[in-house]
Amino acid sequence: MNEYFFDNGHKRENTNCVKYDLRKTVFGNESLIPMWVADMDFATPPFVLEAIQERLKHPILGYSTRGKAYYEAIIFWLQARHQWTVESSQVSFSPGVVPGLVMAILAISKPADKIIIQSPVYHPFYSAIKDNNRQILENPLKNCNGNYEMDFEQLELLMQERPKAILISNPHNPVGRVWKKEELARLVEICYNNKVIILSDEIHSDLVYSPNQHIPLLSISQKAVEIGFCFMSPSKTFNLAGLSTSYVISQNAALLQKYNQMLENFHLGQGNIFGAIALEAAYSLEGGNWLNQLLIYLTQNIEYVRNFIGQHFPQVQISPTEATYLQWINMESFQMSDEALFKFWIDEVGVGINEGRIFGTNGSGFIRLNIAAPFTIIKLSMDKLLAATKRLGY
Ligand SMILES: Cc1ncc(COP(=O)(O)O)c(C=O)c1O
Repeated sequence: MNEYFFDNGHKRENTNCVKYDLRKTVFGNESLIPMWVADMDFATPPFVLEAIQERLKHPILGYSTRGKAYYEAIIFWLQARHQWTVESSQVSFSPGVVPGLVMAILAISKPADKIIIQSPVYHPFYSAIKDNNRQILENPLKNCNGNYEMDFEQLELLMQERPKAILISNPHNPVGRVWKKEELARLVEICYNNKVIILSDEIHSDLVYSPNQHIPLLSISQKAVEIGFCFMSPSKTFNLAGLSTSYVISQNAALLQKYNQMLENFHLGQGNIFGAIALEAAYSLEGGNWLNQLLIYLTQNIEYVRNFIGQHFPQVQISPTEATYLQWINMESFQMSDEALFKFWIDEVGVGINEGRIFGTNGSGFIRLNIAAPFTIIKLSMDKLLAATKRLGY
């Protein structure tokens, strides 16, 4: 029995919600099932909402700081969920993971410096580098029959280009990998030997399915500590992205100092009252219990889609979803152009997906499907897919 009723649907239209209220703009259709942008159709946990309501009993919302309880909550959470020990002096703030990545990039590199990414990857990684006048070096992931791996041989070769940093998604959006300790250790070794800083985006680190286990980059070794940053947030885990709250960790005081200087340059350290309160409420024993139940629910959705597609479209390949609520689906067997595939999902299926190609050229022919919604919606989306293919004679 699920205490938190993830089956309950919530009407999100007309709440200025990106996922629903931008459907007309993004898809030209405001009635399709939105399974695109990475937030969930589940309510933010009740104990988080209550904590915010409690604060609202005080009538003044003036400038505020993050208190001891904020840092203690982060320290508790990282120890409890990831067996990782962090001190409050190693934690800094960012209004979002992407802004944090950008500030770190600006802090540790100069214009024209080269930064590596491993495509297909979360599309704002590209703009975070390019729009700040740094150069992208691509080290595409190896697709081994749907199982993605880092290409270490190619990475070694790229070191000749003297990159300044590498930006990784750990776990990886969109391919769903949870990088293993050995993989991260090999990455650290190569980067350490070549003085390359590792920026590890760990926003999906709580959304990991057993037996996979998230390994925080900085927990790998002293070498990782010397060259690494980690970017985390309760936003994906507890569905509170609208509160613009995330945090940055470096256990190398000099690196953190550079980041903090950039945070100060932009005057972005203030944050917002409700983000801090939400984080404190979420990073708790109750939050852990809620998350465990969420992961069970998400697993059911993931398995349903995998089984449905496996049964009706055996030629379509879904990469193993080790983490995230995003399924990475290879639809090359439909033999459609990317434009046609997108149109097919919008106009024929009636589901708004992310096109694979936005994550890099090697995402062409793929789609990314967000399954963080009540099961009835997931089932409906699959029924609509089957009906559309039958209608079109596939
Ligand atoms: C890998 C990754 N990083 C960052 C973000 C967004 O972070 P924020 O909204 O905190 O900037 C997302 C959202 O989907 C993501 O998947």
